Amino acid sequence: MDPLLNFSNLTVLITGAGSGFGLKLAEGLASRGANLVLSDINEDNLENTRKSVSKHTEAVALAGDIAEESLNRNLVELALNTFGQLDIAVNNAGVAHNPAPVHEMTEDIIDKQFGVNVKGVMFGMKYQLPAMLKQKGGHILNVSSLAGLGGAPKGGAYAAAKHAVSGITRTAAIEYGRKNVRVNAICPFYSPTNILNVDGYNTPEAQQQLAMGSPMKRLADPQEVVNTMMLLLSPGNSYMNGQTIAVDGGVTAW
Ligand SMILES: NC(=O)c1ccc[n+]([C@@H]2O[C@H](COP(=O)([O-])OP(=O)(O)OC[C@H]3O[C@@H](n4cnc5c(N)ncnc54)[C@H](O)[C@@H]3O)[C@@H](O)[C@H]2O)c1
Repeated sequence: MDPLLNFSNLTVLITGAGSGFGLKLAEGLASRGANLVLSDINEDNLENTRKSVSKHTEAVALAGDIAEESLNRNLVELALNTFGQLDIAVNNAGVAHNPAPVHEMTEDIIDKQFGVNVKGVMFGMKYQLPAMLKQKGGHILNVSSLAGLGGAPKGGAYAAAKHAVSGITRTAAIEYGRKNVRVNAICPFYSPTNILNVDGYNTPEAQQQLAMGSPMKRLADPQEVVNTMMLLLSPGNSYMNGQTIAVDGGVTAW
């Protein structure tokens, strides 16, 4: 296997592994040798992912709500107890909300966005970082969004939460870089996974309209986003730190 895409003997923790990017990433890394620690709030989907990747590699799974601190602590403990190390963590679990302008944001929407999309990432890092510091190296990839780099009309709470992910990514990169622990984020444009199954985004017409917002005039295939995740996680990509990488068909080139 090309060493640039050889994940043998590396332990990778992936949240939101039950569907979408997380599922495809788990499959891609499993076929390239990684040992996996998987989590999702949807137990059935999580079990399906675990079974699917177990054909190629050793994988353990723990279901729960990633907004809860205890799950994040337990996931790192599971990684260390099972594989003795944690080399890569992908804080990918996330939720969207029905499109609405800022003045219509409810407390429930804001709480959910900051619970899953921010606390899920920050509690993850809180436990992943010490494990990586102890073994003198590691890489955390947070899944932000293009809404973490710029405004997202009718996605205000999501954009606020994803900007927070970009902020904590850059901050941690500076704090831990000297210890050989790197933190980056990926910021995709819209891609047709389950997360787009919300009112306003879930019809072909709505998605065609979203696609027109990209210079490439199409949405990203989920596999294209996951391919970029794997390139970012490549053992060869060892000096990138603190970056929020857009995968957007050129939207940010405008
Ligand atoms: N698909 C897109 O258009 C897009 C664009 C930019 C960023 N993202 C981000 O990509 C990440 C993955 O999303 P996706 O597109 O694969 O969507 P998805 O809905 O297929 O996957 C998200 C996963 O997160 C899980 N999840 C949701 N709430 C959770 C919770 N409280 N605890 C644990 N797990 C939970 C879901 O069950 C699901 O399996 C998210 O962070 C999302 O914000 C997606």
